Amino acid sequence: MTAWIIDNLAGQGWAVMPDFLPPTLVNQLSLEIETLHLSGKLVAAGTGQGQGREIRKEIRGDGICWIDASHATAAQLDYLCIMESLRLDINRQLQLGLFDLEAHFARYPAGAFYKKHLDTFHSDTRRTLSVICYLNEDWRAEDGGQLRLYPDNQPAVDILPEGGTLACFISSIMPHEVLPATRTRLSLTGWFRQR
Ligand code: OGA
Ligand code: MN
Repeated sequence: MTAWIIDNLAGQGWAVMPDFLPPTLVNQLSLEIETLHLSGKLVAAGTGQGQGREIRKEIRGDGICWIDASHATAAQLDYLCIMESLRLDINRQLQLGLFDLEAHFARYPAGAFYKKHLDTFHSDTRRTLSVICYLNEDWRAEDGGQLRLYPDNQPAVDILPEGGTLACFISSIMPHEVLPATRTRLSLTGWFRQR
């Protein structure tokens, strides 16, 4: 499983792995994000960093909640554990020097999107590998909400946010966007960072 991810990352700068997270974990994490939403604990996602940080619905419309390892639920710890093992595997085989993971739940209400962007900030280039796990049951192409990647010199790639699927790409070189969906779209989005 990680061999496939690593080969694709090395060869093309991105990888998609269906069924990366087990269905029971996907189910539990999706319940947790809906609970966070209903209890008002998701905040409007921003763009930029530090002084440049802004809420701009015309750029992105998701609500997020950062994962805090010291207050994590059992399901969140399972997720962190799976990601840690992926980080170690990638470091062993690709010399990316991935040091830690920052991750947040993301909930896009129907109609929300995230316009084309890069995941690295101008003044902070620690984000190295973007890793997104989707938490949606029975996603169909007609639901929209694709992650669209724009690899250099290649046609755009659309990825459906089906529960359990992992999408990952090199943060600094891969422009990408989230297309609007006709239903709520849930994910756990993370970045492996260098020091
Ligand atoms: C992001 C992002 C993609 C996705 O949060 O920066 O691009 O598919 N997410 O949710
Ligand atoms: Mn992004």
